[in-house]
Amino acid sequence: RLVYILNGPNLNLLGKRQPEIYGHVTLADVEAECRALAGELDLAIRFHQSNREYELIDWIHEARNDAGGIVINPAAFTHTSVAILDALNAFDAPVIEIHISNVHKREPFRHHSFVSARADGVIAGFGTQGYGLALRRVARLIDEQAG
Ligand code: DQA
Repeated sequence: RLVYILNGPNLNLLGKRQPEIYGHVTLADVEAECRALAGELDLAIRFHQSNREYELIDWIHEARNDAGGIVINPAAFTHTSVAILDALNAFDAPVIEIHISNVHKREPFRHHSFVSARADGVIAGFGTQGYGLALRRVARLIDEQAG
């Protein structure tokens, strides 16, 4: 019951970057909340952020070896990366895509996600609360698959 929580480019600036869109909570705060919730849900987590596409791809490959699910906020790579979609297509367990903002309310170039073609569910516009919701959903999907 290990879940990878992966975060794409610029999310290291969460809390400082465009707070009117993304809020004042930092990524360290999100990680702390995820760790507390993971404890309640009896999940182990690996929480990562990178501005580099290949690092996200490498973590998805690593997840093939040991993870029961992935929660991913691919950030801007959502809208550009066939490579991240391909990596996720090589991962067999549940994937939840999460966006802090409601991407559908924003610029048209944010309306298309390559990752959604693979994701088992998508959360958008719930702020950073979406991470906890995504984690709960992955825990449920892991339980269901275990029968
Ligand atoms: C985001 C939405 C993306 O369009 C944007 O590029 C981000 C963050 C979100 O969490 O709302 O960096 O994924």
